[in-house]
Amino acid sequence: MGTDASRRGALKLEPVRLGPITVPTPVVLSPMAGVTNWPFRVLCEEYGPDGLYVAEMVTARALVARNPKAFRLCRFAPSERVRSLQLYGVDPIIAEQAARMVVDGGMADHIDLNFGCPVPKVTRKGGGSALPWKLDLFTELIRRIVGVCRPAGIPVTAKIRVGIDADHSTFLEAGHIAQEEGCAAVTLHARTTAEYYGGHSDWDRIAELVQALDVPVFGNGDIWSAEDAQDMVSRTGCAGVAVGRGCQGRPWLFRDIANAFAGSAERVEPNLGQVGRIIARHARLLVDFHDGDERMAVHDMRKHVAWYLKGFPVGGGTRRAFMECETMEDLERQISLLPQDEPYPEAIAGKPRGRVRYAKKVRLPQGWLDSRQTSHEEREALFGGDPMDASY
Ligand SMILES: Cc1cc2nc3c(=O)[nH]c(=O)nc-3n(C[C@H](O)[C@H](O)[C@H](O)COP(=O)(O)O)c2cc1C
Repeated sequence: MGTDASRRGALKLEPVRLGPITVPTPVVLSPMAGVTNWPFRVLCEEYGPDGLYVAEMVTARALVARNPKAFRLCRFAPSERVRSLQLYGVDPIIAEQAARMVVDGGMADHIDLNFGCPVPKVTRKGGGSALPWKLDLFTELIRRIVGVCRPAGIPVTAKIRVGIDADHSTFLEAGHIAQEEGCAAVTLHARTTAEYYGGHSDWDRIAELVQALDVPVFGNGDIWSAEDAQDMVSRTGCAGVAVGRGCQGRPWLFRDIANAFAGSAERVEPNLGQVGRIIARHARLLVDFHDGDERMAVHDMRKHVAWYLKGFPVGGGTRRAFMECETMEDLERQISLLPQDEPYPEAIAGKPRGRVRYAKKVRLPQGWLDSRQTSHEEREALFGGDPMDASY
């Protein structure tokens, strides 16, 4: 038995308070674009009713422009205990307007701010993980959003990365600023933008941030099993954990993690028949999400099906047949053809899944790294753009 295993047994997570919201088991579904819409959140929350389930990022600019796609991402199911939205913005004024819409429209109970996205399309515009480099912009953005949300009792949290690359770390300053400007918690994805989703996240940076801040820190990066969640807490002292790719095709991971922190060794290990029923349910919820459009829902399910089937001995022909489904009937037929009694493949239970690649090159606005403050010209250049662009 290694030291990790012996430390795990006694580990407990205390509830975390985010303003008026208490998260009894501080295990967070990390926002994932195209994944953490309400159908997936509903499934996850059923397995872990005491966690926090964050929607995928919504672009402030698109929300302000009343883009219908952006509004779709802001929908919640009636069963969701805390309606948690993630906003992405670069322009503090637009971001404040978006927050005002959320507050005035009673659209959410919690707002998370995205300062972690490494996608070139985002960082090229100074957004996501590029933004904390500019201390003035980062501070102003949080100040304006907290200024709107705090009086309404809506807690704001910030999700950050370690920095741009090994030579341009931002997380300690960003964490302090977020705390000073009134964020209720900070989530650290312990990779730089340059590291993208490659390698292993550096949990020591999470421990450093925990030491540096008074507000709760959620650790994020490479939790593939309940044991990983326990190890992260024991090694870093983080108040809670945020799980991204590890729950793709495995919404039950939230029950495993809750069980582990409750001292139980029980784990959810559905056989293929049970997984098939979850796939069917997920697809039906997606039909609702897409306003009855079965084709959209079934297409949207493709990536999920690949994740759900990962590790099961299902041949290429069957996998291809799933990818060719166009209707719920097609999908349900394929599900019924799966060998129902096939046991859960333990070999993949705690293994990485989803994106794992490195970025080729970090894309930033021209001259971004030259100064920690934004010049007038930089702001002019940044804050243009197409307000109807809901993608980022
Ligand atoms: C497909 C995908 C979409 C993502 N979308 C978002 C997003 O909208 N907002 C965000 O803050 N992070 C996003 N992330 C990052 C995750 O929330 C998380 O920080 C990252 O995957 C590391 O955690 P993990 O190792 O548990 O996956 C995304 C990640 C993936 C794989």
